[in-house]
Formats: sequence, structure tokens, C-alpha cells
Amino acid sequence: MLTDLDTDLWIREEPLRFFGLEIGRIMTVVRLSSGGLFVQSPARLTPELKRELDALGGVRFVAPASKLHGHLHMEQYRDAYPDAELLAAPGLASRRSDLAFDSLLGSVPDPRWSADVDQTAIAGHRWLTEIAFFHRPSRTLILGDVGYHVTPEAPLSLRLLGRATGVYERVGPPVDFRLTVANEATLCRSIREVLAWDFDRVIPGHGSVLESGGREAVLDGFDWLLRTEEK
Ligand SMILES: [Fe+2]
Repeated sequence: MLTDLDTDLWIREEPLRFFGLEIGRIMTVVRLSSGGLFVQSPARLTPELKRELDALGGVRFVAPASKLHGHLHMEQYRDAYPDAELLAAPGLASRRSDLAFDSLLGSVPDPRWSADVDQTAIAGHRWLTEIAFFHRPSRTLILGDVGYHVTPEAPLSLRLLGRATGVYERVGPPVDFRLTVANEATLCRSIREVLAWDFDRVIPGHGSVLESGGREAVLDGFDWLLRTEEK
């Protein structure tokens, strides 16, 4: 069920329908150097997936990308891993009042995962603050909805959506996100924080993993924003 991307780094791709379109989503699994797993955008916890996660050391932390859909299936992880901590993205705790979150994610990583995983809050959007993660040992950037990456292998509906929203063969947010940015300077500072990480691979929220050239792809995908710095 898990795809091995690098040392201590796996993904699981699963379907997701959003406003009637199949856009898929990607779970990222990091094995921490202190032991146990850090799971981002958790996939449906089937018995097969649980067996694989258990073989890797069991789940310690479960994180969403944002309040949008990165929290799906978190209740299954709560039930299966009573000692695991559920982490909330900004705005998520009120949306999922059925879940008791252990902490709120911001721009400072917890010391329990910061040796392996750095993070920053992508601020400046009107209603969506996303947490971007960086797996330092594998130089991998892990994004949610600010990072679509739609490729020719995607299902037709996602390819059409990608072309219509400016994220076909690019890493970046769809045009509806761009049109609802509240503060470009704030968003720009957040993207600059992401670009300060020494990443090469990108795991997007939707689409396909970009194995290399990720930093250049993010620079290109956010050129519309980074250009505003010069104004
Ligand atoms: Fe998403």
C-alpha cells in the first residue's frame, strides 16, 4: 500500500472526490530518527495499511496540511493508535470538534520531530492557512493545496482541472487560491520561508510527486507572486 520514496519516507496515494471531480490525495509517512512515524494527510486506515505502518514502527503523530481535507480519517488513527497525537492546522479544531487535538501546528516544529521534519505556516490567504513540511534527510518538501502538481499520468478530470486552473505540469496553487489571497506580501514571505529549505523533491497535496528540480518548480509556480516583491 505504501510507496517507498527514500530512506524513512513513504507515500500512499488514494482517491478523493472534490466538488464532483476526482483529484486524489497523497499521504506522506516519515519515520522519525527517534522512532515511530509522523503521518501527514492520513489515508484511510485499512487493515493492510495498518499492518505496514506497524511494521515501520507505529504512528506517533498525525498531521493535516490544512483544515480543508488533510484531516480525513484522523478518527481512525485516534482509535487505532490511542497514544498517537493528533495535530491541528489553523481553523481545524472548530471544524472537527469530534476530535480532541493534542496541539495546534504553527511555524515552529516540535522538538520531538524537528530533527527530521521542519515546518512553516503558509499565511496570507483569506481562509486557508496551510502547514508546509520539509523532510530534511531526503530534501523533500511536503505541501497541500498550495502545491498541486498535475502531470500527463493524472486521470482526465484532474488533467482538465489542472489546465483550467494553471497547475498542469507546474507546482503551485490553483487559480481560485490565487484569486482569494488576502495579503500578497504575507504569502510571499511564507513562500520565501519554504524556498529557504534545501529541497529537491516535492510531494504535492494533489497530483504526482516531483522527484527532482523541486526548488526551481516552486520558483516557477509562484512567479506570479514572487514578481510582486519587486513592486
Ligand atoms: Fe487539497
